[in-house]
Amino acid sequence: MDASGEPQFTPEMNPPLREDTSVPPRKGPIRRFLDTPPDNTAKTVVIALGLCLVASMVVSAAAVSLRPLQQENAALDKQVNIVEVAGKYEEGMDVAAAFAAFEPHVVELDTGAFADGAEIEGQVLDPLTFDDRAAAEDLTLSAPLDDDPAGIGRQADYVTVYLLKNDDGSLDKVILPVYGYGLWSTLYGFIAVEEDGNTIYGLQFYEHAETPGLGAEVDNPRWKALWRGKKLRDDEGDLEINVGKAVTAAGPEYHVDALSGATLTSRGVDNLVRFWMGEAGFEPFLERVRAGEI
Ligand SMILES: Cc1cc2nc3c(=O)[nH]c(=O)nc-3n(C[C@H](O)[C@H](O)[C@H](O)COP(=O)(O)O)c2cc1C
Repeated sequence: MDASGEPQFTPEMNPPLREDTSVPPRKGPIRRFLDTPPDNTAKTVVIALGLCLVASMVVSAAAVSLRPLQQENAALDKQVNIVEVAGKYEEGMDVAAAFAAFEPHVVELDTGAFADGAEIEGQVLDPLTFDDRAAAEDLTLSAPLDDDPAGIGRQADYVTVYLLKNDDGSLDKVILPVYGYGLWSTLYGFIAVEEDGNTIYGLQFYEHAETPGLGAEVDNPRWKALWRGKKLRDDEGDLEINVGKAVTAAGPEYHVDALSGATLTSRGVDNLVRFWMGEAGFEPFLERVRAGEI
């Protein structure tokens, strides 16, 4: 007691409250998981799975959100190639404006006639939107090939071609899509043929996966330049264009030298060009070009 009669407490009489250590505090599952040692196998597996899940969600979200941009770029790249194979491309130019000069048409390969606006199995063949690649896989618009030197499996019945006209409305060039298997990949490109329907102006691929420095030399401007002025058919109408190591009996105007160190890709290009320029490809259409009907 102090002087006023109040009880005098000392620390001994009133010890500070201490945690009761006899019962451990309750922990949530996350806390318990985080408190497990870092070398715990289950913890390692759960963290690895979690990281995989998050990473795959990020990649999927990026792939989905970037798809429209990729499609836009692919379409622009195709336009660049069409303009370029026709010899109209300049660095920095407005490609869309240059591409507007090319007239797209859907052609029926069997007859070589335009099929713009035709309705096949409920699908209207609009040259502005016709998707050649989708058509080649569409069972109603394509057929399997028995004779398949280009290694494409199925061929579409309809294909988009592009016409480039002179200022007076006469035909300057036709740009024809071609594709076929090389060594490692399918090469997709365009061949530009002059208004005579027989002289090549250019050949160019916009997509392939051949080896850089070997098969990918198909993109080398010096090799591409070899195609200019080459003839498809001789005076008898026989298809003589070829890619190979040696000039054939038809003569040098029908021959393009194979790429050195890339004979297999060159053979693929030979096969695909001869296929698409042949009867099963654009010959019916080129016949119409030669007849002045286009
Ligand atoms: C890793 C590797 C990649 C190759 N890529 C190609 C190719 O893309 N295109 C091709 O024709 N040959 C390619 N080749 C070479 C072919 O195997 C083959 O040797 C060549 O086509 C023969 O050409 P040549 O007769 O002109 O020597 C490649 C070889 C190796 C080892």
